[in-house]
Amino acid sequence: MTYTKPVTTTEMFKKAYSGGYAIGAFNVNNMEIVQGITEAAKEVSAPLILQVSKGARAYANHTYLMKLVEAAIIETGLPICLHLDHGDSFELCKSCIDGGFTSVMIDASSKPFAENIELTKKVVEYAHDHGVVVEAELGTLAGVEDEVQVSAEDSSYTRPEEVEEFVTKTGCDSLAIAIGTSHGAYKFTAAQCTRNEKGELVPPPLRFDVLEEVSKRLPGFPIVLHGSSSVPQEFVKMINGNGGKMPDAVGIPEEQLRKAASMSVCKINIDSDLRLAMTGTIRQFFNEHPDKFDPREYLKPARANIKELVKHKLIHVLGCDGKAF
Ligand code: G3H
Ligand code: 13P
Ligand code: ZN
Repeated sequence: MTYTKPVTTTEMFKKAYSGGYAIGAFNVNNMEIVQGITEAAKEVSAPLILQVSKGARAYANHTYLMKLVEAAIIETGLPICLHLDHGDSFELCKSCIDGGFTSVMIDASSKPFAENIELTKKVVEYAHDHGVVVEAELGTLAGVEDEVQVSAEDSSYTRPEEVEEFVTKTGCDSLAIAIGTSHGAYKFTAAQCTRNEKGELVPPPLRFDVLEEVSKRLPGFPIVLHGSSSVPQEFVKMINGNGGKMPDAVGIPEEQLRKAASMSVCKINIDSDLRLAMTGTIRQFFNEHPDKFDPREYLKPARANIKELVKHKLIHVLGCDGKAF
């Protein structure tokens, strides 16, 4: 089977849940990022979620991003879902639903429980009437997303005792939970970590007990993890070795994400790692070739490194290689 249009996550999540793997949800902002991700997925035959944030939409424009994703589907024939990442209002979700997205996230996790339910339910009703699925969120992640910065003190783990009522009352199709992941390239302070024999920071483990308790209460229901970049040290070093300044950047260890993927986690969000791969590669190129000025010359290796990074994730972290058809 060859796909020509974006799909919802319904079938993907069913298969991922029973197969003990997760779908990678990668943020896209321009053509090279879309190409790097989708070329990797094609090579290993993986289903994909390509997600667009409010900021990405403001940067590149809805139509450009939608058409880039449609082009990638035509080129690869893969099942690809086009998802709104961190929708913060009914209007934004509606605009993406009306504009051809197959999935939206309404992130009302910073609102009180009852308000989160009310807004999520409103989005679900509109989305389902239009054949679109909805991701919601309970609990608060630390870190930065768009212009919103959540400090570690203001973040809070998802309370498992709230999830059944939330899912039943809202009718959402998947649920993002907070178990210790966080957005950005600085997920933990040095003080929150220990150091390994190489002197690298080792973050505190994810709260698998919270994940297990949530899954027990929502059997068969797809769970989503945001803030799941691993912050590969090879790219941090490439950035720092070529004029960048990203001291003590640290992410979620890959083995922990693999474990989550084998459980009820069906969608794992990755953005920062793509940014690191792209930035590191371009910094190195500029450093090594100060005379070059053709954007194709530095975007080509950046796209190639995104592709290699994504291939590694699909096979070794998400376990979704060979699962496209
Ligand atoms: O969770 C947020 C994603 O990394 C998107 O980031 O809002 O800067 O596009 P952005
Ligand atoms: P990272 O910052 O860890 O890549 O998280 C991305 C994310 O959660 C997008 O919604
Ligand atoms: Zn996120």
